Amino acid sequence: MCGIIGYTGKEAALPLILGGLERLEYRGYDSAGVALIENGSLVVEKRVGKIRELVKNLWGKPYRGRTGIGHTRWATHGEPSLENAHPHTDERGEFAVVHNGIVENYLELRRELEDRGVSFRSDTDTEVIAHLIAGAYEGDLLSAVLAVVNRLRGAFAFAVVTSKEPGRIVGVKQGSPLVVGVGEGENFLASDIPAILPYTRRVITLSDGEVVDVTPEGVNIYDFNGNPVTKEVVLVPWDIISAEKAGFKHFMLKEIYEQPKAIGDTIRGLVSAGEALPFDLREFRRILLIACGTSYHAGLVGKFWIEKFTGVPTEVLYASEFRYADTPVNEDDLVVGISQSGETIDTKFAVNFAREKGARTLAVVNVVGSSIDRESDYTLYTHAGPEIGVAATKTFTAQLAALYYLSISGHPQSETLLSELMKVPALVEEALERAEEIERVSQDYLRCRNFLYLGRYLSYPIALEGALKLKEISYIHAEGYPAGEMKHGPIALIDESMPVVVVAPQDRVYEKTLSNVEEVRTRKGRVIGVGFEGDDRLAKMCREFLEIPPAPEDLTPFLTVVPLQLLAYYIASKLGLDVDQPRNLAKTVTVE
Ligand code: G6P
Repeated sequence: MCGIIGYTGKEAALPLILGGLERLEYRGYDSAGVALIENGSLVVEKRVGKIRELVKNLWGKPYRGRTGIGHTRWATHGEPSLENAHPHTDERGEFAVVHNGIVENYLELRRELEDRGVSFRSDTDTEVIAHLIAGAYEGDLLSAVLAVVNRLRGAFAFAVVTSKEPGRIVGVKQGSPLVVGVGEGENFLASDIPAILPYTRRVITLSDGEVVDVTPEGVNIYDFNGNPVTKEVVLVPWDIISAEKAGFKHFMLKEIYEQPKAIGDTIRGLVSAGEALPFDLREFRRILLIACGTSYHAGLVGKFWIEKFTGVPTEVLYASEFRYADTPVNEDDLVVGISQSGETIDTKFAVNFAREKGARTLAVVNVVGSSIDRESDYTLYTHAGPEIGVAATKTFTAQLAALYYLSISGHPQSETLLSELMKVPALVEEALERAEEIERVSQDYLRCRNFLYLGRYLSYPIALEGALKLKEISYIHAEGYPAGEMKHGPIALIDESMPVVVVAPQDRVYEKTLSNVEEVRTRKGRVIGVGFEGDDRLAKMCREFLEIPPAPEDLTPFLTVVPLQLLAYYIASKLGLDVDQPRNLAKTVTVE
């Protein structure tokens, strides 16, 4: 994954690069580094750990260079160490490269370079790029990059600067994201739009197979054969205010509280004429929902809705599994790629694979202009705004809104169903009013090492999502399971030390779920129930009872997930953990 940024212009580059890196840190935070052109020489500074370690190291250093690149790393090739931190340079220290993604044939290239006598300082795949460009350089950085780029295989994006041409940055996009920020007498390159939003809202999104030549005066884009490419400059609607914490302790908590707005904005956005669906779901023989992580859980909920409202058989698949399986796909299928970032490489490849097989493709993404957005036949946008916390919250409920909307479109009662959906933001608002109670409850569970989450029907994906949230940010092991399946295995784990979170709204499977609660109680499990306000029967069976406002069955997933997000948040926050940037994770996963 990793985040990359570049600046060239009239200001000192370092503070702008560090600011951008902080906003990209969600992409990885194993190490960070910058390369600046200072008085015609290349200076590289890097540190293991988060951006703040790099910033501390740079205090008092008088760098004024107006061109530079920066990187925050999520380790793939080579452990997190100073040697493996980016930027990487050639042997003479004249070219510096920051890179996101993987060069799959780097070992072959490395051996070739070593045979020519080049010595390597790191274990990374990135370093080969720096040596190859230095070797190909004949006075023009763009030509050197073009000479090298066709030799690299894999999905990647990189940016390179050289002391030989101060003021110039060349960037390459092939599979990993890269955008250009267009300013006045200054220009930017970055992995993601939020990194450059405080400086400019005018953005060019590069496509795969493009090389960009950036100077303070201009931006020129080429294909890998060096032919010029014309691209549109887009004005980004987000402003930076929505990417700040606004008084909340963590972005995750702020984003949990933003859910009523994210859901409301998503519904309004979808209802607007511009996003009307160009097809009827019933035209398809089958619908495949493809995603990773939290987006996959949204897909599991979506399947129930789509099958209920359209009758079209629907499957939900992990993108990483689908792509290498022999699942038959053809023109009778609709393949829906669900992705917050629109950049998750497994999802992107899976959707492209399905399109090549003749399927129609639909993206459900939060980031306008992202790869999956651009590469799908149609897109439904979730209008959740930028999500910074690595653990997805508001984008999950916004995805639910989009999938519900998708499932009811074309339904004879779609107007009525839509007006039900429009009540969800107010109901989520009510669910959030119970946060204090959840914070109090969380205190008793800080020492637990395992949790079980159970639910049936629409609450089963919510049990999975609750368990994922807890794992991601608290590092406590948690397992989500269909409540009815518990007796086929997980029941063996239950004793007085095992908290069991049971998601039990009063829906078609309520009675069945309550039987499972009894099974847990009989084995002395500590039941934390999530149910409708006023449900005394459930409340009496639980050690803790987390209330949500009563709602129609189909809408319960929007509400049951809220206490689970808050429970995970308060446990991790009370444990003093880095809620927004949990260890080993990254927000956007652009490696397979
Ligand atoms: C990463 C993130 C998760 C996210 C998943 C899929 O693992 O940490 O929060 O659910 O990627 O991301 P996407 O952008 O495709 O929804």
